[in-house]
Amino acid sequence: LSPFPRPAVQEATSSALSLTQRPRRNRKADWSRRLVRENILTVDDLIWPIFLAEGASGRQAVSSMPGVERLTVGEAVREAERAAALRIPAIALFPNTDPSLRDERGSEALNSRNLVCRAVREIKRAVPQIGIITDVALDPYTSHGHDGVMDGERILNDESVSVLVGQALLQAEAGADIIAPSDMMDGRVGAIRVALDAAGFQDVQIMAYAAKYASAFYGPFRDAVGTNATLVGDKRTYQMDPGNSDEALREVALDLDEGADMVMVKPGLPYLDIVQRVKETFAVPTFAYQVSGEYAMIEAAAANGWIDGDKVMMESLLAFKRAGADGILTYFAPRVAEKLKALG
Ligand code: PBG
Repeated sequence: LSPFPRPAVQEATSSALSLTQRPRRNRKADWSRRLVRENILTVDDLIWPIFLAEGASGRQAVSSMPGVERLTVGEAVREAERAAALRIPAIALFPNTDPSLRDERGSEALNSRNLVCRAVREIKRAVPQIGIITDVALDPYTSHGHDGVMDGERILNDESVSVLVGQALLQAEAGADIIAPSDMMDGRVGAIRVALDAAGFQDVQIMAYAAKYASAFYGPFRDAVGTNATLVGDKRTYQMDPGNSDEALREVALDLDEGADMVMVKPGLPYLDIVQRVKETFAVPTFAYQVSGEYAMIEAAAANGWIDGDKVMMESLLAFKRAGADGILTYFAPRVAEKLKALG
């Protein structure tokens, strides 16, 4: 019997594999994982969508989007200040138009004193350093909730584009930095570009919702802007079929040809394959929208204690970066910015 008991470690060594490659070596410590990390999320990647409502003061909760509120113009100015202080580069504005102002043709979109135009002017004056993105589409203004002008059951393309051009011009006049057409009418990017240039707005950018799908993930957004109850039918004659992928490249190619400065894919996480194809094919600034339904799913599961909401929030946004997105529109933006700031 040996006086030296055999150390357990020797046992382990004897079963050691003779591996040249051990990918786990790079993961052994936090410093090493940080060193080899390929993609990171920063505050510069964030665009914060904000809902607006009429009124002198106050905030209204959006029940299907816990933590998200509709803001009056005054509150929106305060939130824009907070966003700028957090170094969030840009905000995107969406109005909940008073039902009495909605009609068949979406006329309120052509009112230079509408909710969005007023908010743009006020935010621009108070917080000139933040980028302001405005949505071009008629759904918050039409009684039927469609993004364009309707004739019977049809959404008229060219007639819609002429209204959208007017809407875009008013937004630019109010001070919008980026015009974001989300309506999916054919030819609207080109028409808006020509009109902006003719009016002297050469520096106003266009972020095209280029590959926007007819998705069920927009439900909570439609609650927020008040179109869920009124929407007649669905949007499948203008938004893309979720089964298509090559078609997204065609839509992006057209919007770039027509003068888009940046393109967007929407929804986000379920369409990361599209984000990746678009970025690899065109190598232009490519954004993704983590839409309301994605936000709601994460929040609902977190509220039930089924997932760690903060961790899933951060991981989901990092996934957009890995797919090639240059930035993400996300309702989590201020929460993420606070978190990134705390992490240093
Ligand atoms: C409307 C518009 C929608 C969204 C952004 N702009 C809804 C729709 O197309 O019905 C959805 C955003 C979200 O779900 O967060 N043109």
